Amino acid sequence: MTATASKTTASAPGKAILFGEHAVVYGQPALAVPVSQVQATAMVAAGAGGFWIDARDLGRRYRLEEARPGDPLAKAADLVRKRAGLERLPDAVLSVSATIPIASGLGSGAAVATAAVRALAAFIGLTLERGDVSALVFETEKLLHGTPSGIDNSVVAFEQPVYFVRGQPPQPLRVARPFHLLIADTGRPSPTRLSVGDVRAGYQREPERYARLFEAVGAIARAARLLIEDGQPDELGPLMSRNHQLLQAMDVSSPELDRLVDAACRSGALGAKLSGGGRGGNMLALVTDETAAAVERALLEAGAVRVIHTYCRAANP
Ligand code: MEV
Repeated sequence: MTATASKTTASAPGKAILFGEHAVVYGQPALAVPVSQVQATAMVAAGAGGFWIDARDLGRRYRLEEARPGDPLAKAADLVRKRAGLERLPDAVLSVSATIPIASGLGSGAAVATAAVRALAAFIGLTLERGDVSALVFETEKLLHGTPSGIDNSVVAFEQPVYFVRGQPPQPLRVARPFHLLIADTGRPSPTRLSVGDVRAGYQREPERYARLFEAVGAIARAARLLIEDGQPDELGPLMSRNHQLLQAMDVSSPELDRLVDAACRSGALGAKLSGGGRGGNMLALVTDETAAAVERALLEAGAVRVIHTYCRAANP
């Protein structure tokens, strides 16, 4: 631990799960990519009267000691303090904001916590590797989701495409040929904690049926990894659509998501699926540069409130 800076800033991207959400909580592999078109930003500036948290998007400003139980930002700040071996944090204000819609499947919770951990560590002169940041953010994810697999904190903190299996270090996903995705927002927020809890209840009620669904999703994620690493992303479409059907069978889709998935496939997408916790939030459509405009139009006509274009590509070295 060393000197305190007077002001530090940090950011972190959103994320999209390409394949394997929900099944990943039960040990199956999943693939995820960072989405840099949306970002969380954190700033720590020297202040007075204790350590303050300013969650601008939520309109809340409070002292660390007055945080509500289970507050993920307070947890993040406290974990960084402990990691630095400090008795207390210096007088300062940690401000966070994000262009990532909340509860939309794009990893806003993990991104805000990652940006906060990075900015605060820099402020107090603590060096953290990406894996350290990911591990600290995982602790905050537990407060938000209950039983997170760890995929969100991994892809956001490592900022690279990952092949992820719960309990194992994330493996880099080598994207041999870039591919174009549209990410469309239903405009309906849906906390991941609820859909994860409902899948757990479903699994307890019908363990064999859910286990078969999880295994089928895992097989799709493994097949998708081979196609992506082999430079055949155009072949991913049917796997996306099949993964969506399996998520429907787990009861985590919604009429809005199904409408967007149908609209994408009818207007020329190679495949489409919900992404993240489901029930609302965002979906993905695999497009080519030639079909992208028509699919985007169809998504907006079918009720999408926002469409992001992103290219999945190899991580920066
Ligand atoms: C959330 O982004 C992905 C889920 O699989 C939950 C998790 O992996 O923790 C739904």
